[in-house]
This record gives sequence, structure tokens and C-alpha cells, in this order.
Amino acid sequence: MDKFVIRGGIPLHGTIETSGSKNSALPALAAALLTEEPMLLHRIPRVRDIKTMQRLLVDIGSKIEVKGDTVCLDTPRIVSPEAPYELVKTMRASSLVLGPLVARAGRARVSMPGGCAIGARPIDFHLNGLEQLGAKINQEHGYIEAQAADGLRGALIKFARITVTGTEDLLMAATLARGETVLENAAREPEVVDLAELLIKMGAKIDGAGTSTIRIQGVAKLHGTPKGGHTIIADRIEAGTFLIAAAITGGDVKVTHCVPEHVRALIAKMQQAGVEITEPDASTVHIRSSGKLRAVDMTTEEYPGFATDLQAQYMALMTQAEGISIITETIFENRFMHAQELARMGAKIRLDGRQAIIAGKSDLTGAGVIASDLRASASLVLAALVAKGETVIDRVYHIDRGYEKIESKLSRAGASVRRVE
Ligand code: EPU
Repeated sequence: MDKFVIRGGIPLHGTIETSGSKNSALPALAAALLTEEPMLLHRIPRVRDIKTMQRLLVDIGSKIEVKGDTVCLDTPRIVSPEAPYELVKTMRASSLVLGPLVARAGRARVSMPGGCAIGARPIDFHLNGLEQLGAKINQEHGYIEAQAADGLRGALIKFARITVTGTEDLLMAATLARGETVLENAAREPEVVDLAELLIKMGAKIDGAGTSTIRIQGVAKLHGTPKGGHTIIADRIEAGTFLIAAAITGGDVKVTHCVPEHVRALIAKMQQAGVEITEPDASTVHIRSSGKLRAVDMTTEEYPGFATDLQAQYMALMTQAEGISIITETIFENRFMHAQELARMGAKIRLDGRQAIIAGKSDLTGAGVIASDLRASASLVLAALVAKGETVIDRVYHIDRGYEKIESKLSRAGASVRRVE
């Protein structure tokens, strides 16, 4: 198992380029199941979750060619409409094949996801929505079986709470349902908008993506991507992680190829904390930090609020801010696993239910720590960049799930990060 060895205390300088969004690429790949024609997708990040999704799609019946960050998919036939436990347990986003499979093949068998390091994360909203679209759902032997032999029919679906992949799953299913589907209390995340744009290019009729109400007029068939394909949006969580890396080390960094609007909530918090931020062009955020930071409270929310996927990284930043900050996690019930590891490095953090109270500034020192999930590992990398001495982060396979070559990107900006086996 790989580890990262990080020597802290070096301010980052230079330019870091953002990759394509993992959480946008995952549903885009699943959308290939909706059509028998070829799909061409650009800017697919080379991370482990994407490889897992590609393996799943190959088992289902897709032929996949990968050239750099371009992926060509062709699914003339659904061979096996199934997502097995071995894959679903390593990546919950496997449930994104559920909607497309029922819509195209009339049948899907997907393993129940089981436990997760950041919370219970059920998929009941996906299943309720599919039932409303006319699918029959059965659960046995740890699997969900969904059937709609005569096809799906449009319905009004109101989500009990906002769900990102739930919105994406049902959006895909509804494109091939008979009649109109309305998704209410839908997720407004940029990844949902990107998926809707891809589906529209494939012939779907969708209105309102990016708002809480999405209307879909079902069509009989979707075609492949038009000439030129579809380019995935920038990864806002990766971009945000690099912005925090610059701020925490007192660096001067331009994060390029990103969408500043998608990290607006983070930029606002960092400006309040005393970081200087400009946007020299439409796809670059320039950050300059003296390393002197003020504590600023933060609450995670659905988009356009502060992303839960940046909460752990923001906590690392707040360990370096003067004063007390309170971080409230509202999306997941158990997303503070990084707090104990940060404490091993000298951070002063008290947990109280859904809140973390951080007293700064702490002089962090390098230590052996363990990554517990994707974003928690990113927060440990950030803390290590500013800690005195050497930090060894174990189980970096978590970080490889969602960050493309993070060690090379940070090293090019001057950080001392080594991967060892
Ligand atoms: N929820 C339910 N029932 C459902 C679906 C969700 O109770 O059927 C609850 C969840 O347990 C959670 C809340 O609703 O408490 C929101 O969960 P959501 O469904 O929005 O999360 P997700 O779609 O499973 C995506 C991202 C996550 C990100 C969340 C929140 C992908 C592939 N994953 O997950 O990303 O944290 O939205 O923004 O898009 C990550 O990249 O590290 C990651 C975990």
C-alpha cells in the first residue's frame, strides 16, 4: 500500500492546473448506457473511481477506449444489467447505473451500498423515484432489483432532501420515460448541470438544470455525443483543495483551468480569513497568503453553499488561523474522521455532534497518520504541507480515488511530497 512522505514548511509558488471533475465524469460515463451509439468524453480525470466505473461499464456491455483524458464508449447492447457488490462496496457512485439501466434495458440489479466512512448514505430517494417512474423494486440477498418491462413513465418526483447522485440517476432515467417528469427539490450542483448539458447534446429534452425544479420530456431514443464530444467541467473540489494548499503554506499560487464561480463560497471564507484572492481571467484564481489567518466559522450546505467535500480541507486551514472557529457539517452525519488525525499532528479540535470547534493557531508537527476517506486524506496532506518535519500518510489509495497525480501537482509548486510503496 502506498504512502506519502511529506516535508512541511515550504510556501507553495507557481501554477497548478485543475483536472476534469470526478463527480461530473462519473454520471457522464454512466450516461453511455442510455444509448446504443458511441459517446466521446474529454477531460475525464485519471483517478481510481473513474477506473472502477469503467470496469463496471465493461461488465455491463460497454466497449471503452481511453486515450489520455479522452474516453470513447460504445454500448450497442446491455449484456448484463448488474452492478456487483465487489465494485459497489469500493465506490457508492456505482448506483448511478441504476437509472440508465432500467430506462434502457427495463431491468437492473445493483448491490446495496452498505456502510460508508462518512455516514449512512442510503439510496432510498433513488429507489422511491424509480418506483414513481413505474419501476418495481425488490430487495433481497443484498441486491436491489428494479424492473420496468414496459418502460418508465414520467412522474412528479419531490425529493425529501437534496441528493446529488439521486438527482442525476433520476434525470438519466427520465430522459427515456414516456411523457413529462418533474424533479422538485433537485440538486443544483454544477455536476448536475454538466450532466444535463451532455444529455441535451444526446437528444434529451431537459429544462431547469441548475435550479430546484428540473423538467424532462421523455424521448424514445438518445443518440451518441455529437462530433467533438463533450468536455467535462473542472473539478471544483480539486481546485478548492489547491487554493487551501496555497493559503495554508503562506504561498502565491495561480490555480488555472477552473471555474471560479464554482468555488465562490470557499473564496468568500478565505477572504474573510485574510487571504488575498484575485481572478486574473475567467478560469484562474490567484491566491496570495502571508500565512496569517483569522478564524472564520463555516457551515456546509448544498450548492451554492460551502461544499461538504471541502470541509475536511477547510478544517486543516482553520488549525492555522488565530482564534476559535466552529465548523458545522450538515450533509453527512459522520464526516469528522480527519479531526482525530489532525489532533495527532497537534491540532486542537473538539467534536460536539455535528460541530467541530477548532482553537488556533496550532504549531503542527509531522506524524504518522492514516487516511480514512478521500477528502479526509486531502486534509491530512494540507496539514502536512505546513507541519514541522516529516509526515507519513498511510492508505493514500483513498486520495487516489479522486485526485489526479496530486503529489506531482503539489511538487511542481515547490512542495516536498514523495510517494513510497
Ligand atoms: N441521502 C439519503 N437518501 C438518498 C440519498 C441521499 O438519505 O437516497 C442523504 C445522504 O445520506 C446525505 C445527503 O442525503 O446525508 C446528501 O447525499 P447525496 O445523495 O447528495 O450524496 P451523494 O450523491 O451520494 C455526492 C458526491 C459526494 C458529495 C455529496 C454531497 C458524487 C459521486 N458524490 O454524493 O462526493 O459529498 O454528493 O455533495 O457525486 C467525494 O467526492 O468525496 C464525495 C463523497
